[in-house]
Amino acid sequence: MLEQKILTGKPYSVFIGEQLLSQAGRIFTDTLPDLDGKSIVIISDSNVMPLYAQTVIDSFKNTGCKIHTYEIPAGEASKNWLLLGDLLEHLAALEITRSDYLLALGGGVVGDLTGFAASIYLRGIPFLQVPTTLLAAVDSSVGGKTAVDLKAGKNLAGAFWQPKAVICDVDVFKTLSPELYLDGVAESIKYGIIRDRSLFDLILNNGFESHCTEIVARCVAMKGDIVSEDEFDHGTRELLNFGHTFGHAIEACSNFQITHGHAVAIGMHFAGLFSAKLGLCTQECQEELTHALKRLGFDLSCPCDTKDLYGAMLHDKKRRGNMIDVILPIEIGDCRIHKMPLETFEEIFMTL
Ligand SMILES: NC(=O)c1ccc[n+]([C@@H]2O[C@H](COP(=O)([O-])OP(=O)(O)OC[C@H]3O[C@@H](n4cnc5c(N)ncnc54)[C@H](O)[C@@H]3O)[C@@H](O)[C@H]2O)c1
Ligand SMILES: [Zn+2]
Repeated sequence: MLEQKILTGKPYSVFIGEQLLSQAGRIFTDTLPDLDGKSIVIISDSNVMPLYAQTVIDSFKNTGCKIHTYEIPAGEASKNWLLLGDLLEHLAALEITRSDYLLALGGGVVGDLTGFAASIYLRGIPFLQVPTTLLAAVDSSVGGKTAVDLKAGKNLAGAFWQPKAVICDVDVFKTLSPELYLDGVAESIKYGIIRDRSLFDLILNNGFESHCTEIVARCVAMKGDIVSEDEFDHGTRELLNFGHTFGHAIEACSNFQITHGHAVAIGMHFAGLFSAKLGLCTQECQEELTHALKRLGFDLSCPCDTKDLYGAMLHDKKRRGNMIDVILPIEIGDCRIHKMPLETFEEIFMTL
C-alpha cells in the first residue's frame, strides 16, 4: 500500500493499493482516531452498492462505528438538487451529527454529490472517499471540488470541501467497462503530459494494469501538489484543465455520446496541433503526443463540426470577456497556461 499526503489547508492521506476495500474500516480508524464510535453513512450508486458495499461494511466490524447506507441511481443525472435535498433530509432523519462522517463509495458522481452534501449539512461535516472508477481515483476524489449540476450546465453549484482521507483499492477497476477504464487512462496520461515526462513514459511503455498502483499514486501525488499550490483554483490548478476546453465542447456537441475521457483525449490531441501551429512546441512533440494517445486506444477522429465546437467553447469557464485561457504543451512534461484573445484563438482553431 502506498500513501500520498495531500497538503491542503487541512492535510489528508490517500492510500492506494490492492485488496484495500476489506481493510477500509481499519485503515480509516487508524488514520482518524476520532472516527471510532461515530456513525458513518455510506453513499453509493445502484451499480457499485451491490458490488462493493458489503465488503466495506464488513471492514468496519471490529471498530466502534455504526454504519448506514444510502443508495442513489447510477449516472450523471443523480448530481442534482432534488436528490441532494433527499439525501440531506435522510441524514437529518438518521440524526447524523457534526462529528459523524459520510463515506462516498463510487465514481465521480457519488463523490461530487457526497462531498457537496458533507460541505453543507449542519454547515459542514467530515467525509471520506473510496473511489471506484479510475477517473475518480486519479482525479475527482482528491482536491476537494464538490458539486451538483444545474439545468444551465455541469458542476454549476458546489463548494470546496476536502475529504478527511481517501482509500483507493485498484482491484475494483476490474469491473469497469473498457470505455470507463479508458476515461481514467486519459486523465492519467494528462498528468504526464502537463508536468512529468517520466510518468508519461511509465504509462506508455509498461502497461497500465500491471503498474496501476504506482501510476495512480503518482497521478494523485501530482494532483495533490497542484491543488496544494492553488487550493481554490485561482491559477496553477488551471493546468489540470489540459485538453478540457476542447474536450468539454466535444462532449457537448456529441450530446455526451463521446465520454469525458475520450473527449479529453481528442482535446489533448487538438491542444498539440494548436501549440505546433503557434510554434510553441515542435512538430515532433505534437506527433509524439498524438501517437501516444492512439497507442493507448483512443480514436482521435472528431465527429463534430468545427464551427459548433467553437460555439460551445465560447461557454467555457476559462473564458474571461474577450480572452480565453488555453493549456498548451511546450514539450511532453511541460504545459503552460496561455491567455489569448478570442479572435486569435478562433483563427487558429478553424485551421486545425
Ligand atoms: N470533483 C472533481 O474534481 C471532478 C473531477 C473530474 C470529474 N468529476 C466528475 O466526476 C463525474 C464522472 O466520474 P465517473 O466517470 O467516475 O462517473 P460515475 O460516478 O457516473 O461512474 C461511471 C459509471 O461507472 C459505474 N461504476 C463505478 N465504479 C464501478 C466499478 N468499480 N465497477 C463497475 N461499475 C462502476 C457507475 O455506477 C457509473 O455507472 C462527473 O460528474 C464529473 O463532473 C469531478
Ligand atoms: Zn476531466
